[in-house]
Amino acid sequence: MRNLTADELRSEYLKFFESKGHKIISGASVIPENDPTVLFTTAGMHPLVPYLMGAMEHPSGSRLTDVQKCVRTGDIDEVGDAAHLTFFEMLGNWSLNDYFKKEAISWSFEFLTKHLGFDPELLNVTVFRGEGKEGEDGYIPADDEAVAIWKSVGIPDERIFRLPREDNWWGPAGTTGPCGPDTEMFIDTGKDKCCADCRPGCHCGKYIEIWNDVFMQYNKNEEGKFVPLGRHNVDTGMGVERTVCMLSGAPTVYDTEIFAPIMAKIDELSGGAPESTPVSAEDALRAKRIVADHMRTATFILCDPKGGVKPGNVGANYVLRRLIRRAVRYARMLGIGEGFTVKLAEVICDKYSHVYPELKVNLEQCRIDLEAEERRFNATLDKGEAMYRKVAEQLKAHGQSQISGKTAFKLYDTFGFPLEMTVEMAAKDGLVVDKDGFEEANRKHQELSRTTSAGSFKAGLQDNSAVVTRMHTATHLLHAALHKVLGPTANQKGSNITAERLRFDFTWPEKMTPEQIAEVEKLVNGWIADAIPVTKKMTTVEEAKSEGAMALFGAKYGDQVSLYSIGDVSKEICCGPHVENTSELGSFKIQKEQSSSAGVRRIKAVIGNLS
Ligand code: ALA
Repeated sequence: MRNLTADELRSEYLKFFESKGHKIISGASVIPENDPTVLFTTAGMHPLVPYLMGAMEHPSGSRLTDVQKCVRTGDIDEVGDAAHLTFFEMLGNWSLNDYFKKEAISWSFEFLTKHLGFDPELLNVTVFRGEGKEGEDGYIPADDEAVAIWKSVGIPDERIFRLPREDNWWGPAGTTGPCGPDTEMFIDTGKDKCCADCRPGCHCGKYIEIWNDVFMQYNKNEEGKFVPLGRHNVDTGMGVERTVCMLSGAPTVYDTEIFAPIMAKIDELSGGAPESTPVSAEDALRAKRIVADHMRTATFILCDPKGGVKPGNVGANYVLRRLIRRAVRYARMLGIGEGFTVKLAEVICDKYSHVYPELKVNLEQCRIDLEAEERRFNATLDKGEAMYRKVAEQLKAHGQSQISGKTAFKLYDTFGFPLEMTVEMAAKDGLVVDKDGFEEANRKHQELSRTTSAGSFKAGLQDNSAVVTRMHTATHLLHAALHKVLGPTANQKGSNITAERLRFDFTWPEKMTPEQIAEVEKLVNGWIADAIPVTKKMTTVEEAKSEGAMALFGAKYGDQVSLYSIGDVSKEICCGPHVENTSELGSFKIQKEQSSSAGVRRIKAVIGNLS
């Protein structure tokens, strides 16, 4: 194997495909142009969709190759293992209705074995095994052709794995578009099999996928059906970080030359803290990798030439915020103090700006955005820490040494305070945390929505009218949260409350994203935890409106109206009744978000028991 750097791999890949008649084109922005179906560019094929569909000829011809910056956050929870990343560089070669399987597979094999020097014995491949029955609707044949080609280059049958659509089908990148069966190439790391069924695609880390050849013969249409595209395209993607890792024999992508300066900077900033913090060495290592990965992604997004994505609460902005905030949390765990995001962005810029000059051009703005977001989030975390302090002092005052699972869960659920941080702080205070109790509380929280939706809520301690009152206050908090997350145009259109659930209709043109829903829940639960008093005063409509109160558009009010305020979170003209304090709601969970009518969405939500 040739131990190539990322710079060498990029240039050799492009040259190799140039020698096979491909034109080298530039990669696109990581923020998609004119494509509402995705938040970020997730693959090299993305900017090429119109050409893959045959809508127009590509000016550089029918054989193309490039390097594409990609952001994929679907596997964010797996980041920290050996190979998952939220940002990576993808090497790609394309046939726009030109060559097909034979050339694509043979060239992949040639590049991997002859050029990069991978031992063919280490190469394992997967192919699409087909689905449905011949002659029946939805039938897609197995990719026997790909199997035959792999055999012809020398891969034996026992290293060709035939897998279903979940594994061996790629695309479309959005909801509709070009797609097809693929064949994926894995390097056997030599680790022991994790179980008898261990095979490429198993997540244990024995087999690392480095390249994917997609045979785009289908189009997924608006009805969700796969129809022949009438073209035979090839779309491939080779991961730079993973390939460099496999070539160098490094145990993880974080141990390659690519991450070396970033990891070194994290070590410098933490002052070797990982070993001295109470988190386990394993947790500390994972935290370090998460910080490195997330900061790399955030830096590329903030420095993107297209620009426009800033930390925020919606869509791509929210993804960026989440990445930065997660990095801040994990950095704290490592004992890294304020101001680190900018320092890491500078290292990342140094490492990459010769390939991606935008990093240098936009570094100044990136610094400003990172600093502001880091400061904002640190303030939130400080609030969580203050909550923790209160808890710790109370425990000590009562001679207790254990933080209950329920309390640890509340810190996590309400303040985004990870369990590890509570454990770390508790250890410094000579306290222990009931981790099992935390898991239990988490599990109960998950079950809450299921039991309440099954109607068992009624069996609780409260009578129906008290439940309805609590739901009513929850509705006001929900309305306020929607304004914060979606903006002032997300206005109430209707509301209906029963003892089982609240229903709330509001103006909004599209489906809320899971992130937006999570953010709304988090805000409402935060306000519940803040134990905010609910107050009522009698006033006139004009006065209430001048104070910024929400009033239902078109509703008729008398001379005097009651104005309910929930701290500075919500002010609404309303007849009540309401609880006296938001803490009476217990917890809040959205069960459903669906369309109600054109331009109007409907949320169904439940609140928790008061135990
Ligand atoms: N578009 C294919 C992928 O991302 C190559 O895996």
